[in-house]
Amino acid sequence: MAAERGLTVGEKRARLPIVQGQMAVRVSLEPLAGAVAAQGGVGLIAASGVLTSKGGGEELTARIREGRKLAGDGVLGLGVMFAVSEFDQILDVAIRERVDVVVIGAGFARGPFNRLAEAGIPGWAIISSEKLASLVCRIPSVAGVVVESGQAGGHLGPKDPEISTWDLFPPVYRTLRDGGFRGPILAAGGLRYGWEVSRLLEMGADGVQLGTLFAMTDECSASPSMKEVWRRSRGSKVTHVSPVGMPSRAVVEQSLSDLPLLPPSARGCLNCLKVCSHRDDRAQTHCIYRSLANAVQGRLKIGTDGSVRNGLVFTGGRIGEIDDIVPVQKRLQNLVEEMREDPRALVPAVS
Ligand SMILES: Cc1cc2nc3c(=O)[nH]c(=O)nc-3n(C[C@H](O)[C@H](O)[C@H](O)COP(=O)(O)O)c2cc1C
Repeated sequence: MAAERGLTVGEKRARLPIVQGQMAVRVSLEPLAGAVAAQGGVGLIAASGVLTSKGGGEELTARIREGRKLAGDGVLGLGVMFAVSEFDQILDVAIRERVDVVVIGAGFARGPFNRLAEAGIPGWAIISSEKLASLVCRIPSVAGVVVESGQAGGHLGPKDPEISTWDLFPPVYRTLRDGGFRGPILAAGGLRYGWEVSRLLEMGADGVQLGTLFAMTDECSASPSMKEVWRRSRGSKVTHVSPVGMPSRAVVEQSLSDLPLLPPSARGCLNCLKVCSHRDDRAQTHCIYRSLANAVQGRLKIGTDGSVRNGLVFTGGRIGEIDDIVPVQKRLQNLVEEMREDPRALVPAVS
């Protein structure tokens, strides 16, 4: 029986084995990440999309410093997608500001993990396959792994974009441990209740990463209209419209026919991605930055049939079962109580 389950992150330890996943563009900023960290979880500021603005380096730095104040001695990290153009600059800021952890998704290369390890900052990889798990075992600088299933929100890595955490986590976990990987291994995607967290800890996970449950909190930076879309949503669906070239999970009400394009001026393009089928061929798909920003900034249009237009509302697979917007403290308290309902898992209290 586990006496107390926290989560080791480099030289720090979070009281709860719960990570708030990065959510771009500007969905998980310092108010959310700082609150999660202060309440005993691991909070991640999503850096992707912050640096695209002029002076973005200073903005990201300021957000990390403010997050640090909110987090107290909690664990505060940065999340970034390898696919974004400003990836290297974001890593520069993370290292300069000495964040507690950097979680890297949407692509993989060993270089960034080596850089972070040299700087003494743990770098965690988001992976979705046994193949990548085998590779990670051969790269000592990868300090932790998030195994993300097809039920996660946003862009999806698994070959089968519908695969559940229950089907994906066990073989990927086994591959990592059998291959000698010793760092923390987390499960992510479509987790709703604390007893599911307990079950994953029993299955070997060192913790979980949650997205949608934290998106639907007061501290999340998404617009009230985006939160209302989440609150009312009946479910999710996999879409194949992202110019990144990966499938992604959005609310089932999402309309895909009217997503924003770039204005005719080439200057409208922020060059935010290393590879973008919309930038490279305007006839293809839509501008993902504008689509996400329109949702986060409240420029969504809701059709009389409930359809969600003019922006992209990413979500995890359990959205239909979450209908409240609550403070982070309440969200974590609920999870911890649900974890305690399983007598085999003992977790510390949220203060
Ligand atoms: C609105 C939204 C935006 C997201 N953006 C990102 C992102 O930019 N990068 C990333 O690696 N994961 C992203 N995710 C995935 C989350 O970090 C998390 O791993 C995932 O949502 C977990 O599944 P859950 O939402 O069912 O808990 C996003 C998820 C949501 C809901």
